Amino acid sequence: MRHAIPAWIRIPVFFLIIAGALEFLVDSGDNYAFVEHPLLAVVLLVFLLLLIAAEFILDAFENIMFQALSPEAKEKYMAAQQERMKKYDLKELYRKAMGTRPISEERDLVLDHNYDGIKELDNKLPPWWLYSFYASIIFAAGYMAYYHIFDGENQVAEYETEMLAAKLAVEEYKKNAPDLVDAESVVLLTETGDIEKGAAIYQTNCMACHAADGGGGIGPNLADEHWILGGGIKNVFHTISEGGRAGKGMIAWKSSLKPTEIQQVASYVLSLQGTTPANPKEAEGEVWAEE
Ligand code: HEC
Repeated sequence: MRHAIPAWIRIPVFFLIIAGALEFLVDSGDNYAFVEHPLLAVVLLVFLLLLIAAEFILDAFENIMFQALSPEAKEKYMAAQQERMKKYDLKELYRKAMGTRPISEERDLVLDHNYDGIKELDNKLPPWWLYSFYASIIFAAGYMAYYHIFDGENQVAEYETEMLAAKLAVEEYKKNAPDLVDAESVVLLTETGDIEKGAAIYQTNCMACHAADGGGGIGPNLADEHWILGGGIKNVFHTISEGGRAGKGMIAWKSSLKPTEIQQVASYVLSLQGTTPANPKEAEGEVWAEE
């Protein structure tokens, strides 16, 4: 066994068998076992070093025994070894794969026509090419059966399945993270519970500048149809979370209010539309019309 296969094949094969077995036996989730458990990586490395060391030691032993042989025995041994290693000789393998024949045999290959001195050789197809060709025929048959006869999943179907799975995953995620609203996805809340929560947030944070009934003071009237920074839930949400124009006094509330709270208070602000505040501040900005 040791003499049948050269070390440069034997060591990687042993190593891969051990690494594969570890991968199979150790439960490491989606990751490789040696990534999940760095200790295993060390074990593998030590194992590799041991394999290499074992090769060196065996080689040394063999060398000692070889030296003890008689000259004829040495020669016989060498010849046998050379014969065994022939099938691993890369040059020989290459020559076989290319199917080339030595120049000395070219005479037998020449075809018997001659175009103004240009002669043609009747070389065989290189085996690597020929067998790749056969393999491609077998592959094509499998491919055709899979995709065209048994209606296998093509890229479009694969894409759609993946997109569907991703969509479900996003929905699942959003369910567990309701604070995901932003100015793009925000919708007007109309349920009494939400409006009441919005009102409470308003009383705590906004009343000082916009008055308890939204009539305005330092800040503009929020009950009229006029908006400086745009009306509608998206604009109002954006104004509250990002703040007004610099220096006007309306800060960005996103640092102190959660997105859902901004959504609630924005919905409350919009519920003030059409009410008549006690001391309405004069209208500022444009009348807002939803496109
Ligand atoms: C320190 C005073 C102050 C506080 C507190 C304040 N605002 Fe304002 N707000 C303003 C000012 C000033 C403006 C005008 C900003 C501008 O002109 O850019 C404004 C603008 C707005 C606008 C846009 C109005 C328009 O016409 O476009 C909305 C909506 C608004 N505030 C809501 C709120 C909400 C909700 C709160 C509480 C979370 C709040 N504000 C707290 C001062 C304040």
